[in-house]
Amino acid sequence: MSGSLTLGPGGPLTGRLRVPGDKSISHRALLLNGMARGKARVRGLLEAADVLSTGHCLRQLGVHGEVRGNEIIVTGCAGRFTEPSGPLDCGNSGTSMRLLAGAIASQDLSAVLTGDESLQARPMDRITVPLGQMGARLDGRDGGRLPPLTVRGGDLKAITWDNPVASAQVKSCLVLASLGARGTLRFREPHPSRDHTERMLKAMGVTLDLRDGWLEVQGGQVPEAADVDVPADISSAAFFLVAASIVPGSDLVLEGVGINPTRTGVIDALVAMGADIQRLEQRVVSGEPVADLRVRHAPLRGAQWGGELVPRTIDEFPVLAVAAACAEGETVLTDAAELRVKESDRIAATVAGLRALGIDADERPDGFVVAGGRLAAGCVDARGDHRIAMAFAVAACRASDECRVDNAHNIRTSFPEFPALLDRTRSLDGSAP
Ligand code: S3P
Repeated sequence: MSGSLTLGPGGPLTGRLRVPGDKSISHRALLLNGMARGKARVRGLLEAADVLSTGHCLRQLGVHGEVRGNEIIVTGCAGRFTEPSGPLDCGNSGTSMRLLAGAIASQDLSAVLTGDESLQARPMDRITVPLGQMGARLDGRDGGRLPPLTVRGGDLKAITWDNPVASAQVKSCLVLASLGARGTLRFREPHPSRDHTERMLKAMGVTLDLRDGWLEVQGGQVPEAADVDVPADISSAAFFLVAASIVPGSDLVLEGVGINPTRTGVIDALVAMGADIQRLEQRVVSGEPVADLRVRHAPLRGAQWGGELVPRTIDEFPVLAVAAACAEGETVLTDAAELRVKESDRIAATVAGLRALGIDADERPDGFVVAGGRLAAGCVDARGDHRIAMAFAVAACRASDECRVDNAHNIRTSFPEFPALLDRTRSLDGSAP
């Protein structure tokens, strides 16, 4: 897609749609099966740049993947990657880099992990320090803080690690490293982060325990390959949950969305603001809870967000800020300093975008304050961040006139179909689901 999106206010969002596969689960379906013993079928994989980055890196590490129709068959390396002949390019994807670093660290090989300009500015000391304590040798720019990272794997010893922030990437990195280590990993974080790695490893026969808030993983385990049906991504569905909530007359059904409780902060936050969201046809698919989500327009009121809600919502705060801009009263986000080290500084980018559309908003070190108001026409810089770009495309649906979102090209990293799907749901012309 091109670098800019131009969208005007439009009619209600109606009909039924299925957003693409969950990005976090897609990365893990490839990587965990790539490390496993045996063959697995993965269905509904997200075909977007971030997941393709994980796929390309795995191929360089000797993992075999074969596309058969709408499935991919992954043949695992039974715990032994081959040493890559060149650098592993993780593109824009922090998940690829941090999880691969963990998976490689306990193996007797060296690899260089690199990425685009945004990824090369993201902190890696959160994984290089604990992996170093386990005995891996990692180098990076700025004393190991920044990529490219050189990982020299080898004989690791599991550690006890009390992580200062909730992070599924750090947790998963250390869990994957500990599978090939001696001893037992003990990992704790301030609030639970997404648990897709734990669920998938359990389905692969790996023993993991949660005791008094500590996740424990015994070393010396090789996962057995397991088929995965990837649910639709709640982080992509979030753009439609907010768009339908703020555009009068909307009534939309989002099919097969993953509703793992470690990911549903966006639903809880919107419902607390007065949104009308129903979970229909709840079921479990490949160990993950799934539902069809029906969302109808409703008047929203301001809210306070912080604490345990933050890791369960993390990537959805930019689009929730758009909901806050359309709400009655003030919304305050705290405890979310992590947003400053995502694909962009999402606190700065969100506040600047809202201001460009005439909304009164301010940064806080660990969040923002948004005063509900009326979105005006304007031009927003998405700063190369996919979620900022899509959040402001949603804002344009409720703005007084046409808006432009620049530097939106990275929508391809998580949701390439987004502009077309948004157009489609807005032009279905009132047919209630
Ligand atoms: C992810 C974890 C989160 C999230 C990211 C995907 C994952 O990051 O923001 O988009 O798949 O593990 P952190 O672990 O850094 O919070």
